[in-house]
Parts: sequence; C-alpha cells; structure tokens
Amino acid sequence: MTSLAAVETARAEHAALHRVIHDMEDLAYHLAGHPGPAAFRALDLILEVLDRHVTGYMADEERTLYPLIARQLGGPAATATMIEDHREIGRWVDRLVGDRRDLEEAAPPQLERARQGLYSLAALLDLHVRKEELIYLPALRRVASASAPERPPASITP
Ligand SMILES: [Fe+2]
Repeated sequence: MTSLAAVETARAEHAALHRVIHDMEDLAYHLAGHPGPAAFRALDLILEVLDRHVTGYMADEERTLYPLIARQLGGPAATATMIEDHREIGRWVDRLVGDRRDLEEAAPPQLERARQGLYSLAALLDLHVRKEELIYLPALRRVASASAPERPPASITP
C-alpha cells in the first residue's frame, strides 16, 4: 500500500469511527434510568460494529499503516504505544461484549457498569484516533508529497 492510499483509507475509517464514538456517548446517556428495547438494540448494533469492524480495522492498521509510520518515524518504537492502545481498546470491547448478556434484566449497578464502559471506550477511541490524525497521518502525507512526481515547469504547461 502506498503512503497516499494509507492516508486515504485511514481518513475514511476515522470518519466512521467518529460516528461510532458519537453513537456510544449518546447510547451511554440513554442507558441511564429505565432503558427500553430500542436502547438494547442500539447497544447490540454498536457492540457488533466494535467487535467486528473496529477490532478488525486495528489489526489492519498494524499490518499496513503502522509499518509505513514506523519507517517514517524511525522504527517500531514509534508505534509501540499506539499498538498498546489497540490492546486496551480490545480489552474494553471484550468487557462490554461479555457484560451484554442478560443486561435487560440487570440491576442498576450492571447498567451503570455498561454506561461507564461505553463512556470509557469512547474517550479512549477518540484520543487514539486524534493522535493518529495529528501525528501519524501528517507524517505519511509528507512521504506521499515527497515521492509524488514533480509537476512540469509552468513554461511547458499547455
Ligand atoms: Fe489505531
């Protein structure tokens, strides 16, 4: 994958992640009190996106985007802390998926634990995505523009 293609892929995935983060915060708010069936359907949808898409995307990043970043920023140490973010995000997703069973009949402390998990994971994901956008993607854009073919001089441009 080229640096430019990696940047474009990451930008599209991040746009989707920002929507998921917003939905998680919104759902955490609505799980307070006495949530109805619609809230639990929304929870199931979010958990499916997190469990299948988000964790799969993080694995893709480690195979494609992060090696390019490591090459640009001086070695694997440049991505080590972000890979640890991925592990922590995965642990929070596993916790939420594990807590989902029987949540409709759950007592308030279990619902509160689910809300806390959604808020915590949303904050962690938001910080992780912002770090990639602020540090990693500009580094890859510099590589992409340095390796782009030069434009012809203006004097020979039609
Ligand atoms: Fe990531």
